[in-house]
Amino acid sequence: MTRPMLIDTDPGVDDALALLMAFAHPGVELVALTVAAGNVGLAHTTANALRLVEWVGRQTPVYAGSAMPLVRQAEDAAFVHGVDGFGDTLLSRDASALASGHAAQAICDFAGTHAGELELVMLGPLTNLALALHLDPALPTRIHRLVIMGGAVTGHGNTSRIATEFNIGFDPEAAHVVFSGFPRIELVDWEATLRHGLEMGEFECWLQEGGPIAEIYGRISAATRRFMREHRGTRWHAADALAMAVALEPGHVLECAERAVRICVDDGLARGATLVDWDRRSADAVNCRIMMEYDRDRWRLLLRAALGLAPGER
Ligand code: BDR
Ligand code: CA
Repeated sequence: MTRPMLIDTDPGVDDALALLMAFAHPGVELVALTVAAGNVGLAHTTANALRLVEWVGRQTPVYAGSAMPLVRQAEDAAFVHGVDGFGDTLLSRDASALASGHAAQAICDFAGTHAGELELVMLGPLTNLALALHLDPALPTRIHRLVIMGGAVTGHGNTSRIATEFNIGFDPEAAHVVFSGFPRIELVDWEATLRHGLEMGEFECWLQEGGPIAEIYGRISAATRRFMREHRGTRWHAADALAMAVALEPGHVLECAERAVRICVDDGLARGATLVDWDRRSADAVNCRIMMEYDRDRWRLLLRAALGLAPGER
């Protein structure tokens, strides 16, 4: 029996790896991709999602969603992912293959079709999910689980607002709606991503030794890998792929922390920060299971499978 999973995404180089992991995993059925603006604009993120589906030879429907955050415009992350979101490979793709309807409505519809079973995985800004929650306030009761890549749980963010992580910082109001509306979130934050960096050299060996999917991923990730070498050293940090490991195989989480998490929507430097009640001093209900440690061998194995490599190969 496969588990129905819907992924909301803004591809994005690390989104692409996460999607390849999900497509390669025998335990899940990817019922749809819903897409938002984030890493780059919506025209590129939808085209990239369609490309991915085509590359893996699937029929998974792709729904376009929000082209902008709920309240304020935000800066994209083209400096990491390339202007087209896929390392400036500019592989063209016709957007006419998009499924009809808005991503937010699609989330509600699939939650209804797979009532009580749908696993929602959020790899980008939370705009589509906030809209879905407004369309259907009972959505949290209809889904089985919600996994979110976002936040920086002790304030080590990755944006110019020091404590803020990109997905939450792109649309803090949407994140506020989601974090105050969903009672049980499995959170994979940027700091966990930093702790689970892979040796760049090893990852690049895999890219060379894998099949056609590894070859394509090597092309679209080349500029980002260069950026990481220049700015972050010898580690490959793949935030969305780590969140996908948690989504696909939660049994390999070695350590987690259950805490109340709120989103700062104030103006100023803390806008978009994830405020965690580490010492349980507030009356806020615990809404997040924060992933602290994941089995690194299993994580590597899931990545290798996504690139078409068998578990035993080097
Ligand atoms: C997150 O921001 C995006 O740039 C990545 O795709 C990932 O979802 C990491 O902070
Ligand atoms: Ca992303």
